[in-house]
Order: sequence, then C-alpha cells, then structure tokens
Amino acid sequence: MPTAVRSHAKINLGLYVGGPRPDGFHGLTTVYQTLAMHDVVTVSAWPAEQSALRLTSNDARVPTDSRNTAWKMVELALAALGRTAEVEIHIDKRLPIQGGMGAGSANAVAALVGLEAELGVWRNPPADWATHRMEIAARVGSDVPLFLMGGTTLGLDRGQEVIPLPDIEPTWCVVALPEVGVSTPQAFRDWDAICRAEGLTAEASADTLRRLSRAYASAFAGAIPSGVRQDGSSGIPSEGGSLAGPTGSVLVRTGICSWIGNDFERVVFPQQPSLRDLKHILLEGHTERALCAMLSGSGSALFGLYPTREAADAACQRLAKANVRWELTRTLDRETYWREMLAN
Ligand code: C5P
Repeated sequence: MPTAVRSHAKINLGLYVGGPRPDGFHGLTTVYQTLAMHDVVTVSAWPAEQSALRLTSNDARVPTDSRNTAWKMVELALAALGRTAEVEIHIDKRLPIQGGMGAGSANAVAALVGLEAELGVWRNPPADWATHRMEIAARVGSDVPLFLMGGTTLGLDRGQEVIPLPDIEPTWCVVALPEVGVSTPQAFRDWDAICRAEGLTAEASADTLRRLSRAYASAFAGAIPSGVRQDGSSGIPSEGGSLAGPTGSVLVRTGICSWIGNDFERVVFPQQPSLRDLKHILLEGHTERALCAMLSGSGSALFGLYPTREAADAACQRLAKANVRWELTRTLDRETYWREMLAN
C-alpha cells in the first residue's frame, strides 16, 4: 500500500542574515512556522536486492532524478538504515516552486517519513535514528531539518540548527503567490554585494545574530502564560472565527510583530518592486490590520498574518483585485503538523 504524506509549507517569522562565511554559507537567525498548505508526496517501497529509485511529479518543473531533495533524502536514509529497496516517489506539487516556502525541503522530509512507514522503520528503529535522520536532513539542505520539527521553530547557524519554540496559536495566514520565482543561492549572492558595500563580515554579524536569537527565545519564553492557552487550539479553525483566543494573538503578546523583519527584502524588493507593493497590499486593511506581513525566506511568496478570518478574507480580496494569485491558509502547531502529516 503506498503511503501518502502531506508535505507542509513554512514561512519565516523574521529572517536575519549574516555576512558570508568561509564555508560558503551564511549564519542566520530566523523563526520558522509551518502552515496548513501542502504538497502530497506518495511513497511505495519494498525490500529488494539492489536499491532503485523512481520519481514522478504532476509538475514538469520538478527534477525527477538525484537533483531532487526527496531523492537525495531517500538515498541517504537507505544507506544509513543499511537497507536496499525499490522506491517509487510521486510528488503532487501544489506549493510554489522557488517561493521561499521550503516546498522542496518539505518534500524531502515527507519522502523520508513515507519511506519509514513503508519499510516499518518506526516499529524497530535503529539506535539513534532520531539523531541520524536530523543529520541526513541537514546534509540535504539547510531548511530541511525544520520539517523534522514542525510548528514554531528557532533556526540558527546556516538554518539547519533547529530548536522548538512554544507554538503560536493557529493564526489566519494569507500567502501572495507572484508569478516570478527567486533563486535562493542567487539571493544570498546578492546579499553578499550589500555586505561588501557595508563592510558586513561573518564575524561582525555574529553578535547581532546571537542577540536576535536571544530576543526571540525570551519573547517566546513568555509567549503562552499558563491558563491562557485554550483547549481546542487543535489547528482546526472554526469557520469565520478568530483563531487567536480571547487575549489576542500570541504574536502580539510576544511583541515580536513590532520588530521582526526579513533581510532578503533588501535584496529582492529593489529587483522586483512589485513584491514591495504586495507587502503593502497585505498590510493595508482598513478596519483590522495584518499582525505582520513580509517576504517568506528569499521569496517570491509573501505572507500576512491576521487576527480574524474577516481581516484575512479582506486581504484575499485586495490581492484578487490586484490580479495576484493567493492562498488562504493557517499556521500549524507542532502536534497538528505531525497528526495531519499522514492524514489522507
Ligand atoms: O543548504 P542549501 O543546499 O539549501 O543551500 C543552497 C545554497 O544557498 C548554498 O549553496 C548557499 O549558497 C546558500 N545558503 C547560504 N547560507 C545559508 C543557506 C544557504 O549561503 N544559511
């Protein structure tokens, strides 16, 4: 029986990038947040004398060979498990490609979870499998490990170092999906030009990144005072309702909405001014404003978070009027992320 796995998107609740490091990467401080919107990755696997992978997708832009993150993940996992198997992976692509929403990275984790289910790894996991799979994920890509965590997660180092934070309550999220894609490696190269112009080195930015990670950690440490968190914050919003509970969104209580930003906007907005306009469209509600709105990762997708369904609907209408593709979704806490992953 093939195993179908939901492969959820992420946004960044703020993203701060340091100067270029000698290893070719950049230090960063970010908070990842998983969303309900997802691809579906279907995996069939059966033990065989020799491993053989086959990958298909409904979207011709998805590479179907060893360039694909799901392929890499399965290959590395089989080697680490000491197993050989024939594996078929199908990626039903619904999330934007080059959108900054981690879709390819999420596909890798979904393929791993599917493989584990198919080969019965959970019944009898090898010693230290939880650590091994985290290391494999980090080898496949900097923002793959976050999808082994889910929910609200602090991301450090090159983004692969992930620390779970208290989840924010389910919050309405509108994603604007521009037609253009942004290459992440290119965005980092463009960031380097800013670093050169401003003399920002990896060493010079290390302190700022540490300070920001402490600011995030202390904001979230006080995020959910006992007794405030609501029963029934299951991630399933009641239609039309506010998701954030009587005390307002945890995003407001943490205070982070007042200071988070995304450094990639400095790179991407001058090149694609229409994306800056989209940020304003997401922000500009007449009655209820967005809690925050910004570029996700290196873009091109932008997101806005809203205190009520009405405010989110109004943002969708503004985007539709501007002829921009959009999706209404919600943030997904850690427990719901894992519960919904294998739901059909
Ligand atoms: O880790 P990943 O393979 O996703 O990274 C792709 C490219 O993005 C890297 O080769 C590097 O150029 C850039 N990158 C970076 N700093 C990071 C993450 C990625 O410079 N923290």
